[in-house]
Amino acid sequence: MKKGNKKNQSILVVYSSSGGSTEGIARTIGQALASDADVTVVRLGRDRNGWPDPGDYGAVIAGSPIRYDEWMPEMRSFVELHTASLATRPTAFFFSCLSLAAPDREGAGQAGIYASKIRRLVPALRPVDVRGFAGTLRYSAVPFLLRIPFRVFMNGKGISEGDYRDWSAIQEWANGILAPALALREIRAAPGDLART
Ligand SMILES: Cc1cc2nc3c(=O)[nH]c(=O)nc-3n(C[C@H](O)[C@H](O)[C@H](O)COP(=O)(O)O)c2cc1C
Repeated sequence: MKKGNKKNQSILVVYSSSGGSTEGIARTIGQALASDADVTVVRLGRDRNGWPDPGDYGAVIAGSPIRYDEWMPEMRSFVELHTASLATRPTAFFFSCLSLAAPDREGAGQAGIYASKIRRLVPALRPVDVRGFAGTLRYSAVPFLLRIPFRVFMNGKGISEGDYRDWSAIQEWANGILAPALALREIRAAPGDLART
């Protein structure tokens, strides 16, 4: 049997994405947890009929890019629609954004505001964590008419085109915060600890 394996836990990792980079974050989280749980990774489409039901899973991790200072509309709707089931199972939220790619501390402050907004979306929910990750800047993924003002804004923030996703930070969040919070892994006492009790 694998060390600490409790495959009886089922986890839904649900995400929305416009340009595709948040999919990589969701899949990395899913892969990190897959040795200890049955993980299903699902993208939210526009059609609600295809949305997964959080009630079918033991725990839920939901994330979206920030667009215009907010989670994407379908993720906000998903969380509002399923508040009752999310409130009765461990739930964690994440977001991707470019503020966290900024070279100064202002971006981290902005990301804190995004996290608070997500918490305030449904104040009754008590997520185990709300975590932001730097995303990707590709001008080809920005709506055509917005590209020039977007470029001016990003240049002003000192953010150039590129992929800022930090895979080790994403894996560390999954392994170090989510896995223990979702009780996926036993905390193993070191041999000396037992002798001292
Ligand atoms: C139209 C548009 C609006 C955005 N608004 C914000 C924003 O308000 N704050 C921010 O930090 N990043 C913003 N971003 C950056 C995205 O959050 C980032 O590029 C993210 O990685 C995109 O994820 P995706 O490829 O999964 O759609 C915006 C991006 C686009 C294209």
